[in-house]
Amino acid sequence: MVIIMDEWLELKANLIKAAEESSDLEAIEAIRISAVGKKGSITGLMKSLGGLDAESRKEAGQLLNKIKTEVTAAIDSRKVDLESSALEAQLLKDRVDVTLPVRPDKAGSIHPITQTIDELTAIFCQMGFSVAEGPHIETDYYNFTALNIPPEHPARQEQDTFYLPPDDTGVPRVLRTHTSPVQIRTMEKTAPPIKIIVPGRTFRSDHDATHSPMFHQVEGLVIDKKSHMGHLKGCLIDFCRAFFGVDDLPVRFRPSYFPFTEPSAEVDIGCTRAGGEFRIGKGDDWLEILGSGMVHPRVLAGCGIDPDEYQGFAFGMGIERIAMLKYGIPDLRPFYDSDIRWLKHYGFVPLDIPTVSKGINQ
Ligand code: PHE
Repeated sequence: MVIIMDEWLELKANLIKAAEESSDLEAIEAIRISAVGKKGSITGLMKSLGGLDAESRKEAGQLLNKIKTEVTAAIDSRKVDLESSALEAQLLKDRVDVTLPVRPDKAGSIHPITQTIDELTAIFCQMGFSVAEGPHIETDYYNFTALNIPPEHPARQEQDTFYLPPDDTGVPRVLRTHTSPVQIRTMEKTAPPIKIIVPGRTFRSDHDATHSPMFHQVEGLVIDKKSHMGHLKGCLIDFCRAFFGVDDLPVRFRPSYFPFTEPSAEVDIGCTRAGGEFRIGKGDDWLEILGSGMVHPRVLAGCGIDPDEYQGFAFGMGIERIAMLKYGIPDLRPFYDSDIRWLKHYGFVPLDIPTVSKGINQ
């Protein structure tokens, strides 16, 4: 019996050593099965106790139980160690290196046209204007006739119109050549007083460094009982100074002609081209930026507004033109090329939302 017990103690020592030396969870599981599994060495020894006499069986049973407990404890403790180092290895593998440089920021930017529309809208809204819109596909009536441009009028040729096939009822259609048809649409459905601006797309068959077949205008219309040429001038002078951020910007009104306004005036702002450098502000030169005038009585009457009771003024300007002047953009054509490098250079930070105070108090 003593010899046998020595062998048992050796078996125990071997199992504990093997457990301690096992290098992964699979190996430790194999040791567990080989020791205390159904056909394991300790399990086998326990089964063999049946052949002993009662006293020896008790003594040997106690010893085997102790061996089993110690071997199981060694296996379990090694298993816990292996599990936690497996977890540690996993954590190490998944570690995020917070010191790595961030990926390049791919934020988009605001197109200069959008920025300019936002800026001028903020300025006019502060003056009490609201924003109106109209369709890009217009009828010949709204684009021309209602604006006192009869069929044989030369302005129809001057504006290089894109003509479209007539609609189902035979009404002649065009891509609007200016935002002025929205004046008519607004006066037809709104009783005065009216005070709107209309930023939007316009189309003319023209393409060079300063003309694009699709471009933008902003229209203005004020109709009430008292607005006169003095209001037109004050409104446009204030706008030009706020928009360009030059408090004492010279603004000049030059007599002109539009079929839908009488009298009409073109508006120039002061600039200088001294030394080959172009600058807006006081100088010896002028630059035309918009058309304006008192709404023609015939236009009012055509919209059902009594010209003896109501009057007012209108204006229209090219948005690309004022954007190019304000932001020093030399060529009109890249505005619509969708060239990311151009947009990066001339675009605006999305969060740099223009505010009225920013526009007016510069
Ligand atoms: N519609 C004119 C143009 O496109 C501009 C304008 C608008 C002039 C309103 C006077 C009044 O040239």
